[in-house]
Amino acid sequence: MNLNRSIAVIIPAAGSGRRFGSSHNKLFATLAGKPMWLHSVEKLIARPEVACVILAVSAEDEAQFNEQLHAFAIAGKVRVCLGGDQRSDSVAAALASLDDDESIRFVAVHDAARPLVKPVDLSAVFDAAATSGAAILASPVTGTVKKRHSESQTTTVDRRELWIALTPQVFRIDLLRSAYARHRGRPATDDAELVERSGHPVAIVPGSADNLKITFPEDLAIAEAILKQHDQSPKSDR
Ligand code: CTP
Ligand code: MG
Repeated sequence: MNLNRSIAVIIPAAGSGRRFGSSHNKLFATLAGKPMWLHSVEKLIARPEVACVILAVSAEDEAQFNEQLHAFAIAGKVRVCLGGDQRSDSVAAALASLDDDESIRFVAVHDAARPLVKPVDLSAVFDAAATSGAAILASPVTGTVKKRHSESQTTTVDRRELWIALTPQVFRIDLLRSAYARHRGRPATDDAELVERSGHPVAIVPGSADNLKITFPEDLAIAEAILKQHDQSPKSDR
């Protein structure tokens, strides 16, 4: 399938970064010389498959995002909308703000707090969504996982069937719209869970485990190191 300009990207950026503990949103923290949120936005606007990018922000941060969009000369390429209290409210708001544009067939949701996503992984998850209608990047669980039944009883879970969900998560637009239309605020930690609930299978695309979500301040130093490593790797692996 030719995906050229068929994907709308939603970037949830309307959190407050409470666990990061800084006085302003963690997304404004500097990573390799520029705001953390800009890394994945720049990678996504450069893609031929991407028709538009919508950044969901909080009212508190809106002015600063707009200022930085201008400062980095991408204001014309990114639309800003107001997010909500929960991440799913932010995605729902961005989805509602999408025009009924027939050429948009897919929506990719990608956390602003994941600056390290690799172009090869973007290609893989875009292609899988084109085939299956719903696909997410995920990394295999590498540790031994225990289930604690009581204080003194555990069992070991077979990790071969366990995956850590990452973003982007990419869906046919009608699937995501109907999943959100059925969503009545029941907690969900990612968009794929809503699509699963509506009965459509979600394909797992094995992605690089270093597609970290920056949560705590110490994650920034790790992210800097990973970015350096990406820059030194052969082009075909990036
Ligand atoms: N997000 C959002 N709207 C919300 C909450 C979160 O758009 N109401 C976004 C965040 O800005 C982030 C992504 O969802 O890009 C993943 O959320 P998380 O890493 O938990 O960020 P925060 O919610 O900002 O951090 P914390 O949970 O520590 O407060
Ligand atoms: Mg959060």
